[in-house]
Amino acid sequence: MHNEIVIILDFGVQNNQLVARKIRDLSVYAEVLSCDTPVETIKAKNPKGIILMGDASIVTECAEIKAIGVPMLTVEPNEVTTESGAKLLHDFLFTKCHLKGDWVMQDFADQMIASIKETVGDGKVLCALSGGVDSTVCAVMVHKAIGKNLTCIFVDHGLMRLNEGDEVEAICKKQFDINLIRINAQDRFLGKLAGVTDPETKRKIIGEEFIRVFEEEAKKIGSVDFLVQGTIYPDILESGTKNAAVIKSHHNVGGLPDVIDFKEIIEPLKDLFKDEVRNVGTVLGISDAMVNRQPFPGPGLGVRVIGELTKEKLDILREADFIFREEIKNHGLDKQIWQYFAILTGLRSVGVKNDERTYGYTIALRAIHSVDAMTAEWAKIPYDILETISARIVREVKEVNRIVYDVTSKPPATIEWE
Ligand code: XMP
Repeated sequence: MHNEIVIILDFGVQNNQLVARKIRDLSVYAEVLSCDTPVETIKAKNPKGIILMGDASIVTECAEIKAIGVPMLTVEPNEVTTESGAKLLHDFLFTKCHLKGDWVMQDFADQMIASIKETVGDGKVLCALSGGVDSTVCAVMVHKAIGKNLTCIFVDHGLMRLNEGDEVEAICKKQFDINLIRINAQDRFLGKLAGVTDPETKRKIIGEEFIRVFEEEAKKIGSVDFLVQGTIYPDILESGTKNAAVIKSHHNVGGLPDVIDFKEIIEPLKDLFKDEVRNVGTVLGISDAMVNRQPFPGPGLGVRVIGELTKEKLDILREADFIFREEIKNHGLDKQIWQYFAILTGLRSVGVKNDERTYGYTIALRAIHSVDAMTAEWAKIPYDILETISARIVREVKEVNRIVYDVTSKPPATIEWE
């Protein structure tokens, strides 16, 4: 570690990683440590500054840390994101600590690759690859660290978008020359999910089944020590930390079963936000098309079909979603909108087609702007484009007779409906 480093001491508040991220944005490397980290460990990192995250009163408890003799700053949990908070951080780093700002994302990638190499040694590693940005960046990083000792497993759970399984397979094998095993487990997942309507239960079942499939594949490969997952920081935060309530269990975090047949789980991106993961992808040489893919949740369309999942409903959603995405692209909005997708709502309603009564599904369209998925604003897609999309879906997907557009931001809604 050759960069200047700032230590953030976590006194049990929520925004530590957000502050670390703001500091990284200013080209300074910041590491979050628990407040009970021995002072010797902190000293050994040779920090140029220390930030205490919490109430101003905590400073009085920190005589030993003060004795390290580097500038200190106390940051109260709520202000960090304001303009004055940003100025405070800037002044602390560059005026008080006299930092150069010499850290770039390439440093993160290099250091993480070196650290994975050291942790894994000659061990074998499995990577859970979904084809999304997070797991792909993760896989490429681990591949750079240990090459053919990495095997990626892509579980096609039948909850992917139209043609997605084939696309993921082609990209990984052709573009990256990564060992990839594709498991077609559609029936297995749908079997487990039959009759299940509760969103959290669906998420937990999908998460658990994923792990079971990995464990089985790992046994076939033999002596696999590590499992790599593309967990990113918002996944962890939203799955509930000491201080944050559970909003929904992201399948790669809260959905994990208690007993897992691997020595260790490696999560190289767990401190990063989505846009930072994209930057890592770019410095690793991953194509723009892949790096800028919109996020897709681990449980896939499983959380976009409200209520019970059936193959019929999934196929309807796949078609509607494909049309929505195609039209967004046709109208040149795909680079402007952060995430856009269709939802098969639990609602059916009366309509009329060719003078005949219909009783069809209602599809909801969701499109949002966001930076890090923690908050989101609904996208103001022009009415005429919405009209084109709506007309195409009801014309081409015979089971659908009504389209609604979601005009809710996050909070209070979340991005996904379940
Ligand atoms: P929510 O719905 O929580 O979504 O506002 C925030 C972002 O996370 C994605 N998402 C997930 N990603 N596993 C993932 O890897 C999950 O279980 C999961 N659930 C939601 C969602 O698409 C959005 O970008």
